[in-house]
Amino acid sequence: MQKITAVTEMQTLAEDLRSKGQIIALVPTMGALHDGHLSLIKLASEQADTVVVSIFVNPTQFGPNEDFAKYPRDLERDLQLCEQAGADVVFAPTVEGMYPKGYSTFVTEEFVGKPLEGVSRPNHFRGVTTIVAKLFNIVRPDLAVFGQKDAQQVAVIKKMVADLNFTVDVVVAPTLREQEGLAMSSRNRYLSSGQRLEALAISEALKMAQSMVEHGELRADRLIAEATHILSQKRRIRVIYVAVVDRNTMESVREVHPGVSMMAIAAWVDEVRLIDNVVF
Ligand code: PAF
Repeated sequence: MQKITAVTEMQTLAEDLRSKGQIIALVPTMGALHDGHLSLIKLASEQADTVVVSIFVNPTQFGPNEDFAKYPRDLERDLQLCEQAGADVVFAPTVEGMYPKGYSTFVTEEFVGKPLEGVSRPNHFRGVTTIVAKLFNIVRPDLAVFGQKDAQQVAVIKKMVADLNFTVDVVVAPTLREQEGLAMSSRNRYLSSGQRLEALAISEALKMAQSMVEHGELRADRLIAEATHILSQKRRIRVIYVAVVDRNTMESVREVHPGVSMMAIAAWVDEVRLIDNVVF
């Protein structure tokens, strides 16, 4: 496995691979890899000749009071995990490499990213779309793999790909969960064992909503009320949103349409912000 830091070196390699007709898959990450990321790398390696994993804690997608400085970073461990999972290249650029002095160009998607995360993290998706567009231009992938846990991110990136005519196939991998149901996330590392227990209410609320839908309850307000009730039982949880939305546009819906509608939850567990979702 090759590790590349310089943007120009990555671009040269990508050009070379493309000229040889290789299919390139990109798995964009911010490192602190867990089994969820490894499943994305495995999925990528099934569909491509060369798998490039990018590891970059992207400053532009963090708000001023968010966890950019303390976001977990462990490149040596991540490199080992990437190699074991079948990555061919790790692209780990520096902040200066990606955003040199005087950098001033940003990509904004202006509809799908507005509700939900867009309300409480106003510039988050602007940072995500900017870095993902840059990665697409540098790595020139045929496909890029993202996790369903970040459902709104997936929808925003799909919209950017369509609107800006990127020829990248966006592949979405299912959410991986801990045994008790908690969706895997790098931020789970922040949770104490007590907080972890309380955080389970998020996946329990989603499971309850899923079961209600399976039993014929399609009214969004009923599903939201029940999920909110489950979360409200936990002392350490503060709900940011519980919403039933169209999975492509993120617009609220009154009634569930199976396969199209999803429930999205964001909540604080003390000072740790978690998100999760289920597609009905
Ligand atoms: O999902 C993430 O880890 C990040 O938002 C991404 C897509 C790597 C962009 O920084």
